[in-house]
Amino acid sequence: MTGDTEGGRGGDGGVAGDADGADGAEGADEVALDPWGSSAVGDYRELFSEFGIEEFEGILPRVPDPHYLMRRGVIFGHRDYRPVARAMDEGDPFAVLSGFMPTGDPHIGHKLVFDEIIWHQAQGGDAYALIADLEANSARGMSWDEIDEHARNYLLSLLALGFDPEEGTLYRQSENREVQDLAFELGAEANFSEFQSIYGFDGETDVSHMQSVVTQMADILYPQLEEPKPTVIPVGPDQDPHVRLARDLAARTRYFGVRTAYASFEATDDELASLREAYEAREAYAEDADQPRCEEAAEWLASEETAAEGAIEKLENAGMEPLRPRTRFVDRRATDDAFEALIEAVDGEKRVFEAHVDAFEVNLAEAEELAREVEVAHGGHGFLPPSSIYHRFMTGLTGGKMSSSIPASHISLLDDPEEGYEKVKSATTGGRETADLQRELGGRADECPVYELYAYLLAGDDDEFATEVYEECVGGERLCGDCKEQAARLMEEFLEEHQEKRDEVEGLLEEAEIELESSRR
Ligand code: TRP
Ligand code: SF4
Repeated sequence: MTGDTEGGRGGDGGVAGDADGADGAEGADEVALDPWGSSAVGDYRELFSEFGIEEFEGILPRVPDPHYLMRRGVIFGHRDYRPVARAMDEGDPFAVLSGFMPTGDPHIGHKLVFDEIIWHQAQGGDAYALIADLEANSARGMSWDEIDEHARNYLLSLLALGFDPEEGTLYRQSENREVQDLAFELGAEANFSEFQSIYGFDGETDVSHMQSVVTQMADILYPQLEEPKPTVIPVGPDQDPHVRLARDLAARTRYFGVRTAYASFEATDDELASLREAYEAREAYAEDADQPRCEEAAEWLASEETAAEGAIEKLENAGMEPLRPRTRFVDRRATDDAFEALIEAVDGEKRVFEAHVDAFEVNLAEAEELAREVEVAHGGHGFLPPSSIYHRFMTGLTGGKMSSSIPASHISLLDDPEEGYEKVKSATTGGRETADLQRELGGRADECPVYELYAYLLAGDDDEFATEVYEECVGGERLCGDCKEQAARLMEEFLEEHQEKRDEVEGLLEEAEIELESSRR
C-alpha cells in the first residue's frame, strides 16, 4: 500500500488544478505530465507542440452555448472533443466522466471539474463522477477512514453545485464490480514496459498502484459499457498520460481495423501513401487508365524519389492485379462468427481474404460504423476513443502553485466564509509598488491570482463583469485594495451559499446509489 516510489511527492491529485509537491520544481519550464508528481505547467503552448493536445479555441465555435470556463480559456486544451461537441449539438447520446482522489478537502480547483461535469450533464450528457478510493489508498497511502470522510465532502460539494444524482451516476472504484472486471480485461492489453515508459514505474512500484492505473482505464471507458458513445473526461493536463493510454487500450480491444487499401496486399502507412500517389497518377503510366496494373504502378513509382521501397516491391509481386481503391476491414481479434457476420453485412462488391475483407462500395465512415455494429452485436465493446478537455491550474493565492499542503495558497470549499475572506485579502496580486504607479501603468491582471479568482469563479457566467475587472485593472482605474475587498466579499458569499447548499443536499446524498462507507479497513 505505502512505500511507493511516488509517495511523499505530492499531497493531492492534480485532477482539479492541484499542483502539489513541496519539492516540486517551481517555475520549471520543462513540461512533464506526471499524474502523481508535481504538475506545474510552465508553458501551456508546449503541451500542444510536444504532447499533441489541441487548442480548445479551435473547437469553441462548434460547442453549443459554451461554458464560461471555455469562453475564458480556462479550459485551454482538448483531445478529440469534436465527437462530443457534435453529439451535443445533434442531440445524440454522449457522456462525461471524471474522478476524484479523496486525499483532502475539495477546494476551488476541484470546483472547476465539478462544474465541467455538471455543465455536460445539463447539456444532456450521461454524467459520471467517481471516487478514486483505490488510487488514494494505493498511490497515496490514505486509510479507508480518511478516504470515507473526504469522499463524503467531495460528493456533497458536487451535489451542492448542481450535479443531479438521479440522472447521473456516482460510484467508488472499490465497490464497482463492472469497473473491476473491465479493468482486468483491459489489463490484458497493457504490459509492464509500457507502464514503465508512460509513468516511470520501476521495480519498486507497488502492484496495487499499477492496478489503480488499469482501474482508471476502466473508469474512463465505463460510460461506454452499455453502448459506445462519445465520452469526455474533464481533467487537469497532468492526467493526459492516462487519457492517451485509455485511447490506446480502447483501440486495442476492437475486433476490426478499418482502413483504405489499393490492392489485395497489406501495406504500412508509408507504403499506403505511395500507393495512393501511384493510383492518383495512373493517367500518366497506365495502358488503360480505368485499370492500372500493379506492375505498371511499380515501374512508375521506381522513378519517384519519395516512393516507399516496400511499396514498389509489393506492387511488383502483385503483377497484373489492378490497382483499385477500396475500404478494408481487417480481422484483428474478432470471433469467427463476428467475422462471418461482417462479411455478410458488407454491401455491394467485396472480396474476402483469410483475415480481411475488401469492400468496393462502402466508404470509410460507413465502414467504421458497420464494424462497430457487428462488434457490439457479437459481444464486443466497440469502444470509441475517449475524448478529454484540460483546464489550467490555478495560481496559489500566495503566488507559486496552488497546493493543498499550503492552506493559505488555496481556498477549501469547507473553509469558514470569514477565513475565505481573509485568505483573499492576504493574497498576492499583480499590482504595482504604489497606487500612483498603478494608476500610471495599470495592474498586471494576467499575473494576478485575484484576477484568476474573478475569471475562474467569482464572476460566474457574467463575462461583462470579468472583462470590466480586467479592463479596469490594466487601465489603472482599479486599485488592489478595493479589488481584493470586492473579491473577498464575493468569496465569502460564495462559501456561505455553497455551505448552505451542502447542508441541503445531505438527504440527496443519502439516497444516492453510492457506498459512503467503505467495507474495507
Ligand atoms: N487519477 C485521478 C486523480 O489523480 C483520479 C481518477 C481516477 C480519474 N479515475 C479517473 C480522473 C477517471 C478522471 C477519470 O485525481
Ligand atoms: Fe489584481 Fe485587482 Fe490588483 Fe488588478 S487591481 S492587480 S486584478 S488585485
